[in-house]
This record gives sequence, structure tokens and C-alpha cells, in this order.
Amino acid sequence: MSSQEAKLIFDGRTYRLPVIKGVRGERAIDIRTLRDDTGLITMDPGLANTGICRSSVTFVDGEKGILQYRGYPIETLAEHSTFVETAYLLLHGDLPTRDELSLFSRQLNESSLIHEDMRLFFRAFPNHAHPMGILSTMVASLSTFYPLPDVLDDVAEEQFIANLISQVRTIAAFSYKRAIGEPMVYPSCNLRYIENFLNMMFSSPVKDYKLDADIVRAVELILILHADHEQNCSAATVRMAGSSLSNIYSVISAGISALWGARHGGANMEVITMLEHIRASGGDGRDFVERAKKKGSNERLMGFGHRVYKSYDPRAKILKDACHKLLQKPGVSDPLFDIAVRLEDIAMHDDYFLERNLYPNLDFYSGLILKAIGIPYDMFTVLFAIGRVPGWLAQWREMVHGDNFKIARPRQIYCGADIRSYIPIAERK
Ligand code: ACO
Repeated sequence: MSSQEAKLIFDGRTYRLPVIKGVRGERAIDIRTLRDDTGLITMDPGLANTGICRSSVTFVDGEKGILQYRGYPIETLAEHSTFVETAYLLLHGDLPTRDELSLFSRQLNESSLIHEDMRLFFRAFPNHAHPMGILSTMVASLSTFYPLPDVLDDVAEEQFIANLISQVRTIAAFSYKRAIGEPMVYPSCNLRYIENFLNMMFSSPVKDYKLDADIVRAVELILILHADHEQNCSAATVRMAGSSLSNIYSVISAGISALWGARHGGANMEVITMLEHIRASGGDGRDFVERAKKKGSNERLMGFGHRVYKSYDPRAKILKDACHKLLQKPGVSDPLFDIAVRLEDIAMHDDYFLERNLYPNLDFYSGLILKAIGIPYDMFTVLFAIGRVPGWLAQWREMVHGDNFKIARPRQIYCGADIRSYIPIAERK
């Protein structure tokens, strides 16, 4: 707590509000006593100026383009870590020792099956069901097969966390197999996390899937970069839903639903649609950029802009290089990459984007990598969700074990009708 304070003068009285300081210099006015003292609330639609917690999980400096998980720069983790190790780091606060990592990996592996009866659920979804709808439903359904004990001790909590990280990947692969009408492939105790996922997605009883180290590494990278991003829309949803002490499966299902939207994780699909349109039109995307700039237009340059980053998203930088490298592989190329690079160049020389600090975000290049790997288009956001589960769990865990844990209950300024008398239906005009 810093000794600084802010003064609010209202109705001729001065109120002193303490200023809270984070370890990297961010500051917040603590308004916890504001309503009791003054009768006022604050108004911040979109919560752009509202801190909802103190957190030690992830640090983002949007002005400088910095992202760190538990103090480790994202660039370092992208180069040296694995997704499972990064998940451990987010959840436990420190990098694991060799023994801790192998225990965690074993637990993930042993938790990867879903109850056999749940396989029947997949049949009940219509063929055209969106995999994100299936994922959120199935994750919420896990709560009925794996009910939480009355007392969630440390051992039980670790198990539920392992279930979620591991089962979400099995559900994702099963939903794909269901969509293409192939038998579901079970997870294998001989494969690691990413390899297992790719094998469940792409092998079949009549065709083995040949694992390719570059593709495994590309998925690893995607998942590491998506693993957490402090209080974004879905993480805040997880904290909001979790604050009612709802069970952890429903909480993560709520996070998946929030992620689905086109302004959040759903943007990775929209980017590819946009690039395909540009390709089909034969242009370089200038028309698209012009339309996205029009006041009141519903179109936006997908994969551009970010609530927090007012400079280049560090994850987009890493993914652009990774995408370029992957597309150099024999047999893997995509004309959409060149279109994307040209589009970025057009936008980055346009005052509209420069004045508003709209740079490529994580989603701009991630879809191209997923497409190159063979992940179907409508599963792009599912991959985002698989990556984000450890982050959501770390945010949830920090909240439920933290001080000042309260149900989230914002306020409003009521702008509706004044009190009215009930009119019986026969007398209504
Ligand atoms: N294309 C064109 N204009 C844009 C874009 C864009 N991608 N993004 C923002 N703008 C403009 C807005 O029209 C607005 O202009 P104005 O000031 O003239 O009215 C200004 O920039 C500020 O935009 P806001 O919507 O107020 O910014 P906000 O911080 O609320 O939104 C968001 C951030 C939702 C990411 C937005 O930039 C956007 O819609 N981007 C496209 C979707 C996308 O890529 N989403 C993925 C985000 S990253 C993630 O979730 C992992």
C-alpha cells in the first residue's frame, strides 16, 4: 500500500481515497468505501478503468508491449518452455523441478479420459454444431460426472485442475471426430500433451498420424502464448462466475462462452474469413481497410486492436515469425500469409490505425498457423480455449484462496420508467 491518496471533492466535502500501488508502478484509487461515505458509485462501462483484483499471475504493459507470466517474459517461455511446464508455472507460481513436472505430466495423462457415458452426448448434437458450443456444454456436463466434494482440499483441487486441463483436450478432439463421422480416438499414456491431442484429432483406425516435430512445436507455441492474459473478458468472466462459489467446471464453461465472441477469441476465425474474402476479391485488402475505417461501420479489421496493447502485441510478433517459418516447410504454404503481411503493412501506414494505436493482436497470425497444421477453421477458438484453461484456473485459484474474496456484484444507474400502476390486460390500449 502506498502513502499516496487521491482527493474527491463532492457536495462541498473532501474525501480522501487511498492509492494502491502494484510492484511495477501501476496505481489504483481504492474506492471500496466510496458508496458508504458519499452515496456515489463509479461508472465505467467496459471496465476499461476498473481494477477487479490484485493479481500475481500475469503482468501486461500495453504501452510497452510487455507480457510476463509469473515474472517470466513471454518471449523466454515461447523459446524454452512447454505448454505443460507453463501451465504448472501459472498455477503454482514457480517453474517446476524435474520431479514436480513429471508428477504433473503423469497426473494430466491419467486424467485425460472422460466418462464413457459422456461419449453418447456427442451423438445428440446436430452435425453443424459449433465446437465451442459443444465444448462449453461438455465442460459444464463434467460437473455431473465428477461432482466436487463438500470440502475441496489441496489434493482434490489439484485433481480437478488436472481433469480440466486434460479433459478439455479430449473433448475438443472427440467433437472433431464426431463432426467428420470418424470413431473417437482415445488418449494414449505413451504420448505427451500436444502429441496426444494431435493424435486424437488426426489418427484413425485405418491411418496412423505421423507426428511432425515442427507441427508439435507450433501447437506448443500457440498454447503457451494463449495460456493467460490477466483480466481479459473471459478471465474476468471466470472470476465473476467463480465468485458465487459455483463449481469449477461451470466456471470454466462460462469462460469458454465469453471467449467464443468475435471481439475476443472468436477473432482468430474471423481473420481467416477476412483474408479469404480479400483473396477472392483479387485485391490487396485496401477496400477492406477503408470499410473498417468508416464511422459507424460494423466491419473491423479482424486481428487488429486491443483493449490493453497500444503497441505491437508481443504474442503477434512471435506468431508472425513462427508462421513464416512453418510456411517454409515443404508442402506447407499459404497465400493468405502474404495477404496478411500486406494488409498489416497497409494498416501500419494508415493514420487511422496509427492514431488509434491499432496493431496486430494475437489472433492476426494464430489462425494461419492453425490452418497450416490442419486444424479445421471452426476449431480455432477451441484451440485458444485449450491454451487458456490453465490461465483461467490460475485466476480462479488466486481468487478463491485470496483475501477479500467476495461475490462480484456491480451496481448500475437506473434509467428506466418511474413507478407505475398495474393496468389489467382488458384496459390496456
Ligand atoms: N478495425 C477498425 N477500427 C477499429 C478496430 C479494428 N480492428 N479496433 C478498434 N477500432 C477503432 C474503433 O472503431 C474506435 O474508433 P473511434 O474512436 O473512431 O470510435 C477505436 O478504434 C477504439 O475502439 P474500441 O472498440 O473503443 O476499443 P476497445 O478497446 O473497446 O476494443 C477490441 C478492443 C474489441 C479488440 C477492438 O480493437 C476490436 O474489435 N478488434 C477486432 C477484433 C479482434 O481482433 N479481437 C481480438 C482481440 S485480442 C483477443 O481477444 C485475444
